[in-house]
Amino acid sequence: MNKVTTLKKAVFPVAGLGTRFLPATKAQPKEMLPVVDKPLIQYAVEEAYAAGIRHMIFVTGRNKRAIEDHFDTAYELETELEASQKLDLLALVRSMNPSDMDFSYVRQPRSLGLGHAVLCAEHLVGNEPFAVLLADDLMVGTPPVLAQMAARFAELQQSVLAVQEVPLAHTKRYGMVAGETIGDRLMKVSKMVEKPAPEVAPSRMAVAGRYILTPAVFQHIRSQPTGVGGEIQLTDGIAGLMTQEAVYAFQYSGKRYDCGSKEGFLEATVELALAHPEVGEHFRNYLKNLQIP
Ligand code: UTP
Repeated sequence: MNKVTTLKKAVFPVAGLGTRFLPATKAQPKEMLPVVDKPLIQYAVEEAYAAGIRHMIFVTGRNKRAIEDHFDTAYELETELEASQKLDLLALVRSMNPSDMDFSYVRQPRSLGLGHAVLCAEHLVGNEPFAVLLADDLMVGTPPVLAQMAARFAELQQSVLAVQEVPLAHTKRYGMVAGETIGDRLMKVSKMVEKPAPEVAPSRMAVAGRYILTPAVFQHIRSQPTGVGGEIQLTDGIAGLMTQEAVYAFQYSGKRYDCGSKEGFLEATVELALAHPEVGEHFRNYLKNLQIP
């Protein structure tokens, strides 16, 4: 493979059922839930864009049309905003699909797991390294987390997974990795297990929803038997990839909010509202005066 300095493509698997967020997700995608004023998927797309990626590939499913509409041109809305001279809002709406950004959509016909979802994008990714972003993991970092990872990828030219330390009691929620520390915040992964019980977890390093993968991963996802929960797991595909080439885990600097869970979503809402330029001050005063029983 030739040296790749800039990643071109990002895959956003958004075909999950979002059962932890029912009833909100019965008829609308979890990825369209807004944190303050932006849907989760937009935070993830902006993060990919900030990492230099211009081709956004969505793996969608039933009830996910709102995501396509969100990134499409909204002629009626734009015409109305123009006529009423609401130019700030017009610029905001137009900024969501800049002219140098491309979108592709592919359907995952059934929710057969994250690995299967990534495989559905294979023909759009082709034979080049790519990023995977799970929009329900909202990442806040400076530089943005995927940009930090892309810088590591540019040096290593091998797959890079975002990891963070979690309490031992939480290992059952994540893919967990272990390996040899080889540099600042960097580990060469030797073991990867999906959602292990704390007693058998290889470490406390959990994979967060950001991956940079080489295209060799596709054949390993394809050859894995069904994994935990009867799903085709991305973790198992990456574990297979490790038998062929090096995979690195990068402890990013920043914060992850698990917005696929109600608790994480509420934490993100409170913290991003406090930091929001328009509503932050009002919200801070509101919280200060709130009588919490
Ligand atoms: P999750 O397991 O967190 O999402 O998958 P979910 O299945 O939608 O949520 P719950 O557990 O039922 O509440 C992580 C990501 O992988 C995508 C999801 O959309 C989410 O972004 N995914 C998962 C798929 O695209 N396809 C799948 O078959 C499974």
